[in-house]
Amino acid sequence: MARHLITSALPYINGIKHLGNMVGSMLPADVYTRYLRQRGHDVLYICATDEHGTPAELAAKDAGLPVAEFCAQQHHAQKEIYDGFSLAFDYFGRSSSEQNREITQHIARKLKENGFIEERSIRQVFSITDDRFLPDRYIVGTCPHCGYDKARGDQCENCTRVLDPTDLIEPRSAISGSGELEIRETTHLFLLQSKLAGEVEAWIDENGEEWPTLASSIARKWLTEGLHDRAITRDLDWGVPVPADTWPELAAEGKVFYVWFDAPIEYIAATKEWADAEREAGDSAPRDWKSWWYEADDVRYTQFMAKDNVPFHTVMFPATMLGTREPWKKVDYVKAFNWLNYYGGKFSTSQKRGIFTDAALELLPADYWRYFLIANAPESDDTSFTWELFSSSVNKDLADTLGNFVNRVLSFSRKRFGDEVPAGREAGEAEQKLGEQIAELLAEYEGHMETLQFRKAAHALRALWSAGNSYLEEKAPWLEIKTDQDGAALTLRTAMNLIHLYSVISEPFIPASARLMRSAFTLTDDTTPWITAEQAKSLSAVPAGTPFTVPPVLFAKITAEDLDAYRERFGGAETADAG
Ligand code: MF3
Ligand code: ZN
Repeated sequence: MARHLITSALPYINGIKHLGNMVGSMLPADVYTRYLRQRGHDVLYICATDEHGTPAELAAKDAGLPVAEFCAQQHHAQKEIYDGFSLAFDYFGRSSSEQNREITQHIARKLKENGFIEERSIRQVFSITDDRFLPDRYIVGTCPHCGYDKARGDQCENCTRVLDPTDLIEPRSAISGSGELEIRETTHLFLLQSKLAGEVEAWIDENGEEWPTLASSIARKWLTEGLHDRAITRDLDWGVPVPADTWPELAAEGKVFYVWFDAPIEYIAATKEWADAEREAGDSAPRDWKSWWYEADDVRYTQFMAKDNVPFHTVMFPATMLGTREPWKKVDYVKAFNWLNYYGGKFSTSQKRGIFTDAALELLPADYWRYFLIANAPESDDTSFTWELFSSSVNKDLADTLGNFVNRVLSFSRKRFGDEVPAGREAGEAEQKLGEQIAELLAEYEGHMETLQFRKAAHALRALWSAGNSYLEEKAPWLEIKTDQDGAALTLRTAMNLIHLYSVISEPFIPASARLMRSAFTLTDDTTPWITAEQAKSLSAVPAGTPFTVPPVLFAKITAEDLDAYRERFGGAETADAG
């Protein structure tokens, strides 16, 4: 069986992420990881915070903290939230780690050895007041095309034209607002991507076939626009330093690698962090980080990300890895997502528009969000979060279809037959029909999970829950019991077997609720990781006589008052224009 390596795009360190971020990378990766683990695969799920770059420095400055301290705090804060969402990372690392410095520097040395890195002197805008070089997007001024006075040096947000900072009229620093700018000469390392373009293209031809269109079309578009050589260092205080043994002068000048150079390498480095953490803990079986990444032909590597990240993962990072001439593992499958909007407009960190992951968890348990977000994941198109959609999905699918089924069946059976699963009659025609239907739907669900089609998988899961409801309505044990005790007992026993089946197969989506459902039954041997078709058909894993308890209500309904309060607090449809 293949080993599965899974990574989700590294969340940036500058602040708490919103739900759009969660649904486009970490959450689907977690659902997939959990599924594969339940199917018995060897899975390694790696993520980390992406900590370098100018935005991190500026956020630290805003917070009045040294950048290292700011990052440590923010890493901790994000980690807690992801624990709250039950994300089952094997390791959640930090791109500012020692391991990332080591591996990033190693890769840069190899690229130089192979003739893919060269030093070039360029002219760049320096802000005297800020005492620093300014990245293009930190220079603002008036757009020469449309007159917009807050155009950024890389692009005008108003007319969308791509700009060069020197195009701007009355340019000033976006950091201090100062117009005291000058052009200074500075030397940087350039990754000679133009030399690697052919190889990257061949690699995409060979591997990209299988990717979803969203990923492969962006990769191709990027290639057609031409792979240009790219500066991979910056004049910043915070980042992976250029190694002094290889570039003594640049190192002395304090150059660091560009954040997009070291960030994807952190996927590898975080795996080493995972192995090193264990060594420190003194565990016995050593974790072998390298076997996942180096000459790892038996590994299937799946990446999760939002669409803006695709070019870096399908073109630039592969170019970097190819240029080392070392057998580093490259991605096999790129699962990319469109945007989740908030009432049709953008989620926005700066405008505080939409729902942030910390606020979401304060409001409702993680399973509500997990289910809704995956069932509405922006897979083939952008999708919108609205409170109306969210509450109807929670109320209908989670509370009515699943939660109510569980509660109704268990409480009714306890009331009429006591604390053990009742025996009743042998399964009849209705149960056989139900078993076949469940097995069929389960196969459908598995098929969508295997092909990473999450909305369709959610749909199949919902259909499985509904099938139980239809069966119950049809048999109506609350009427049946008046004339046929054994028949009612059979119905309830079958329904309890469905609950157990649901607890197993719903785990990737709603792990906490699944655990609650499963623990309702006291089985002597309840280790089954997944349900076979045979088990689905026979619905007999929970035999008569099994003690059970009635769990607390699994999902509370969102009331009209709740809905009003949420819209009030977070803004509803009326905020759409502001985006
Ligand atoms: N931090 C980046 C973003 O938020 C994603 C980095 S993915 C990585 O868009 F692999 F490059 F780290
Ligand atoms: Zn403009």
